[in-house]
Amino acid sequence: PFTRQALVTAISAIATAGFAVQAHAATEVSLGHTLSSTSHYSVGADAFKETLERLSGGEFTVTEHTSGSLGGEREMIEGLQIGTVDVVITSTGPLGNFVPETYVLDLPFLFENYDQARCVLDSELGDELLEKMSDHDLVGLAWTENGFRHLTNSRREIATPADAEGLRVRTMENAVHQEAFRQMGARPTPMAFPELFTALQQGTVDGQENPITVIVATNFWEVQDYLSLTGHVYSPAIVLGSPILLDGLNEEERDWFMQAAAASAEATREEVSRLEREGVALLEENGMTVKTDIDIAPFQQAVEPAYEIFTSQYGTEMLERIQDKA
Ligand code: PAF
Repeated sequence: PFTRQALVTAISAIATAGFAVQAHAATEVSLGHTLSSTSHYSVGADAFKETLERLSGGEFTVTEHTSGSLGGEREMIEGLQIGTVDVVITSTGPLGNFVPETYVLDLPFLFENYDQARCVLDSELGDELLEKMSDHDLVGLAWTENGFRHLTNSRREIATPADAEGLRVRTMENAVHQEAFRQMGARPTPMAFPELFTALQQGTVDGQENPITVIVATNFWEVQDYLSLTGHVYSPAIVLGSPILLDGLNEEERDWFMQAAAASAEATREEVSRLEREGVALLEENGMTVKTDIDIAPFQQAVEPAYEIFTSQYGTEMLERIQDKA
């Protein structure tokens, strides 16, 4: 017979089971970036997911949102601040609009090679910049990488700054980049990345600049004929977290996020290095004319005023510290 006691026991068992399920329900972490699922950012996102889910024993599960499905990089950074996304992998392109101290990293010809750039970002100077994020409602988890940027266009081969005269070049929403292209004689057009492919297709802009990694991941050969290996600026990337999620975590949980971000950066850098070795041949196979032997001295000279404009606004301290280390 179904006694009153049996009913009480059953209800309490159901309540306990319900509580147990609730206590162990995984927290879903949304991770966004603007590139395709075959990109170096996705390699990094996969490493983040694998590491966080493993370390947390499933307490956190990561859902990846690729190809700008959460918006452009500026929009996603805003999303972190208001908690509509939890983790973002982004270039520093639009980051200076939020954390002006990072503009220095986007100065043209600041770094000569990958070793130099990685070494600076992995130093205490890089850590300092990561910490600055928290003054702007962001959590800096790790420096990762986009790569050295090169110029592509649909008009002509570019070997000197004079060849770029009048060219409508899409730039990132970054004041330092826009100034550098203006100094070079081009017509910079800032635009969010998700709008770029169509803009190139429709001829709203003639060219764009991005690392080999991005040119490969976005099939830019379909809309761009010429690539000049100008390597005019190193483009760092960063794994950022939302304070709305991260500030509520305990120390151990926060450490899992840091470790996941470090694993993401390592995997991304490996993929960038692989594409630096193999990407140009792939682009040529797909019909791009690639100018490899560029004399960068005239480009360096052309963008020199960008340094003066930058230092008059933000001072020389950080720049000198980077130049000392590089
Ligand atoms: O050109 C940009 O906006 C960035 O390099 C990109 C492609 C979004 C990667 O961070």
